[in-house]
Formats: sequence, C-alpha cells, structure tokens
Amino acid sequence: MTMRETEWRRKAKDVGQEHLFAFWDELTLDQRDMLLAQLASIDLESVPTLVEKYVRNKPDFSPGGASIEPVNDYPNDHTNPRRAWDRAHYHALGEEMLRRGEVAAFTVAGGQGTRLGYDGPKGCYPGSAVRGRPLFECLSRWLVGAEKRYGHAVPWYIMTSPLNDEATRAFFGEHKNFGLDAANISFFQQGVVPSFDAASGRILLSDRHVIATNPDGHGGSLKALHASGALADMRGRGVRHISYFQIDNPLARAVDPVFLGLHAHAPDSSAQMSSKMVAKTEPGEKVGVFAKVGGTVGVIEYSDLPGELASRRRADGSLVFNAGNVAIHALGVEFVEGLSRAGAGLPYHRAEKKVPHIDLETGRRVEPSAANGIKLETFVFDAISMCDASLVYETDRVDEFAPIKNASGSDSPESSAMLQTERAARWLEAVGVRVPRKADGSPDCVLEIDPARAMRAEDLRSGPLPMAIEQGARVVID
Ligand code: UD1
Repeated sequence: MTMRETEWRRKAKDVGQEHLFAFWDELTLDQRDMLLAQLASIDLESVPTLVEKYVRNKPDFSPGGASIEPVNDYPNDHTNPRRAWDRAHYHALGEEMLRRGEVAAFTVAGGQGTRLGYDGPKGCYPGSAVRGRPLFECLSRWLVGAEKRYGHAVPWYIMTSPLNDEATRAFFGEHKNFGLDAANISFFQQGVVPSFDAASGRILLSDRHVIATNPDGHGGSLKALHASGALADMRGRGVRHISYFQIDNPLARAVDPVFLGLHAHAPDSSAQMSSKMVAKTEPGEKVGVFAKVGGTVGVIEYSDLPGELASRRRADGSLVFNAGNVAIHALGVEFVEGLSRAGAGLPYHRAEKKVPHIDLETGRRVEPSAANGIKLETFVFDAISMCDASLVYETDRVDEFAPIKNASGSDSPESSAMLQTERAARWLEAVGVRVPRKADGSPDCVLEIDPARAMRAEDLRSGPLPMAIEQGARVVID
C-alpha cells in the first residue's frame, strides 16, 4: 500500500465510506490515481453531517410556527396606490451604474436540459422566436446593447458545471463569442457533491473508480464566484453589483437599469441581494413565493406554503402571497464576498432521484427503475434571508418571463415563442405599429425584437420601423 492510499483509505473509513475502495485491487494505476484525485476534491469531512442531516432525515423547510407576511414589493405599475414610486429616478440611477461600469452580468448555466430532452448545454438550445438564436446569444444581445448605449462593456460571467463546461466554451468559440470581446467573458465551473444511496447513506460509485456526483445547485454559484477568482476579477474592474439570471429565460433583461437602481439605491434596500417577482397566476402555480418569514424576506417553496395562505386574496381579488420567484436577482459584490469570508454555507435541499451506480457486491452497473439515490443541492435564494434587508420588485410576466424548461406544454419552446411574440407585439403597438391579432387577441404573426436594438418599448423609436406587421408574417426587428 502506498502512503497516499493508506491515508485516503483511513479518511474514507473515518467518515463511514470505506466501500469507495471496494474495487481498488482491480483498478489500473491510472484509475487509482483518478479515484484518489476525486476523493481529494470532495469535502469528505462534511459527509457524516450531510448523511445525518439530509439523507437519513428530511430537513423541514416549511415556515413552521413563524409568522408569514407578504413582502412589500415595488409594483410594476409605479403609479399603483398600494405603493407609488419614482420609476424614472431609479432608471436614471441604474443607467448611471452601467455608464460607470459598476455592473456585471452573471448567468447560471450549470444544469443540463434534461426536462427539455436536449442533449447539450441548455444555452445552446435555439430559443428566440423567429431566428432560433441560441439562448446564450439571446442574452448576449442585451450586453451588446448595453455597451452601445452606455459606452461601457458589461463583463459576463457564466457558471458551467463539469457536465457542460467544455461544450459551453467550445460553443462560444464556434460563435466568435457572439460578437462580444473575449476579454469580457469568463467561464467557471460550479462545485459538485457526492450522490448518496438513500437506504444506506453510502456514497454511490458511478464506475468502479468514479464517485457519483451531482452539481451543487445554483446556490453553489456564490461559493464558485469566490473560488474561481471571479469576485476578485470584478473588484479589479470596479464592478460593485451582479445582475444574476438563469440560462432558461430568453426574455430576462440581462441588465435592467430600473431594477439595478432600486437594488443599489432604494431606501429599504441593503444593496446586498434583491429579487424580481411576477404575480402568480393562480394559487396552485408551482413557483416559490417571496414572503416575510419571522420578519425576514425569503422564498417559500410552493410545496411548503400552506394552502390557506396560497389562496388568500386581497379585497381587489389579487392573491396576498402572489410574489412568484422568477430567479432574477441583483447581488452586491461585497455581500457575496462577505458570505464567502464568513463561510456561511447555504442549506442543502434533497431530491430523491434515480442514480445509476455500480453494485458493490456484483460489480455490475445498475440502472434503477425507481428513485434509489439522494442528490443534494443548494439554492441561491436561500441567501436572501442572510441580508440585512432585501428588496422585491415586480416585473411584468409577459415582459420578462418566458422560460424554456419542458419539451412541450407550459414553459416550452412553443409557449416561450408565444410570449416573446406577445411582448414584441405590445412594444410595437406602444410605438404605433399595427400588429394583426386573432379573434382571441393573440398576435397573428411571430415576432422577435433584438435587445441590442431595444431594451424597452421606447427604444424602438430610435430606428426604422414598419407601419404594420402583415398577417402570418415572421418578423425580426433589429
Ligand atoms: C427555478 C426556481 C423556481 C423559479 C424558476 C423560475 C429552484 C429550486 N427553483 O426552478 O423557484 O420559479 O426557476 O424559472 O431553483 N443551475 C445550475 N446549476 C445547478 C442547478 C441549476 O447552474 O446545479 C441553473 C440551471 O442551468 C438553470 C437554473 O439554474 O439556469 C434553474 O435550474 P432548474 O433546476 O431548472 O430550476 P427550476 O426547477 O426550473
């Protein structure tokens, strides 16, 4: 036995995972090296706690006995008597931040398009309604537009995972970074956590010499921003705030002056972490909701929101707990640095999944037909409750939320294209362009507006526009 082997065997044994060496004698020297290297990359010491807390037990994320109140959001309609606010003021402040180069864009793109049935990084999926531009390109166009408009490049940080890092980088290379300067794009990988056998709490092996792991969730982005040096890079560039969004939403405003202005300057914001919400369509809609739990703003997963609260309505008929999470946030660089310094770990959430693995007795690969494993993930929105104060801003669903998650039905390429067209139609109509509509009111055409041309309806006035869109036409405004 080598020193290295003895040491790692002991470490694995100490945390109840000696079985990871079950096939050691059959491994080649290279395979042994790979296994030891993987062991070194995992936080083995935390394993017993993870097993006890999250595999053998199911942590309770429900609000329990704590008080639950709705958040006092900034309504999308700034004249809403519930809370009138000065939209133009915050828009101007946000634009100033962009002019000074204080904002970075950050996309979490570590997930695989499993639900979509797409074999590749989700960002490569054709997402725009007419041209079928890849999701990465849809988002890049905001940054092209912002640089043109504000005279300062917005650096773009993209979090990948070991599952898609290489393919993502290659895709950007093939597409010449979508016209952006390579010096302003950074990729880094999120971390992984071992996948566990639900019954025994043992870490699963995906091959005789390979530990089964899964990406550590979008919450892993906060750790990875620090570990990758991205935060230090931001500091060096004078970036103070991070605009966070997911790869799956082609309508997400990669940079939104109004939201950034509110986040950094509103009196009730700590400028630590702010969020966008859309009004939930019905009590049962499966989105987490922002609420004050025990006086602190956080997200309650839809499964944890008591039914009575989910369906409670205001006098005007709107839902009291309607603040749906669209996974768009603004984060202060200092806040993320502070979390890393304090080592403030986010809690893990467990998911019961089918995890293919090697049977320790037979050495054969098992493709389970039912959930056998536990995958652990952290969620970025759990950081909200660590803020001194956290602001929530309501955006319009049609304006900013058309995610592509499923192959068909809701949140599919088809529903996203319809929403993209509806938004484009509204913007065009707002500046006087006639858009054909069907009897049910939906546009009778397919439309796409390039964000580099217009970040909001008013911007469309600055260039040529058709008088009217023809029935059945497929039109790009750029
Ligand atoms: C998420 C939110 C939900 C919100 C919805 C809005 C959670 C648990 N729920 O749901 O509250 O209403 O988005 O669209 O997040 N990702 C990584 N690394 C990972 C896991 C995910 O980068 O390890 C990225 C994905 O690439 C994707 C995003 O995070 O961009 C969302 O992940 P996904 O698991 O699809 O979340 P949803 O269940 O759709």
